[in-house]
Amino acid sequence: MDKHNLALFKNEIIGYTCLRQKKILIGRKKILKILLFDTCVVKKKKRNAGIGTKLMNYNNKIISKSKKPSLLLCKQKLIKFYKKFNWKNIEKSKVLFVDHKQNKLFIMSYKFTKKINGKILVYLNS
Ligand SMILES: CC(C)(COP(=O)(O)OP(=O)(O)OC[C@H]1O[C@@H](n2cnc3c(N)ncnc32)[C@H](O)[C@@H]1OP(=O)(O)O)[C@@H](O)C(=O)NCCC(=O)NCCS
Repeated sequence: MDKHNLALFKNEIIGYTCLRQKKILIGRKKILKILLFDTCVVKKKKRNAGIGTKLMNYNNKIISKSKKPSLLLCKQKLIKFYKKFNWKNIEKSKVLFVDHKQNKLFIMSYKFTKKINGKILVYLNS
């Protein structure tokens, strides 16, 4: 099931994140359940006040509890932000998003402890 987390201020939504359950294929046979960190956005006027940090820490806790690894796709300028929360870059050549354009995007992971033998195939629309 997808998890939508909201940051609220006076009944107004000022931040939003989404974790989606997906299955990925590693190599030819191994299927692994993951959480795809789909969206992380804070309302413009409320940025740089620590709300993104709260949302990231909260999501990291959910990911850790789930015992599933997590992946995200992001623009280069966001890598620094996610690294603050212990997300790690994954080499682009190791992952293929089969049904999503990824040429200008970077792939990051959290709690991805499994040894990767072979290419990771991700189907976002599965
Ligand atoms: C990225 C985003 C969620 C950060 O939210 P925020 O509430 O402003 O973040 P915080 O105030 O908690 O900032 C935490 C730290 O990250 C840094 N940071 C914030 N936005 C950043 C960005 N876009 N790139 C790099 N670092 C960033 C802050 O400078 C701060 O660093 P510090 O701890 O050294 O002071 C917010 O800028 C945003 O919504 N951006 C547009 C949407 C987006 O690009 N989302 C990601 C892809 S879906």
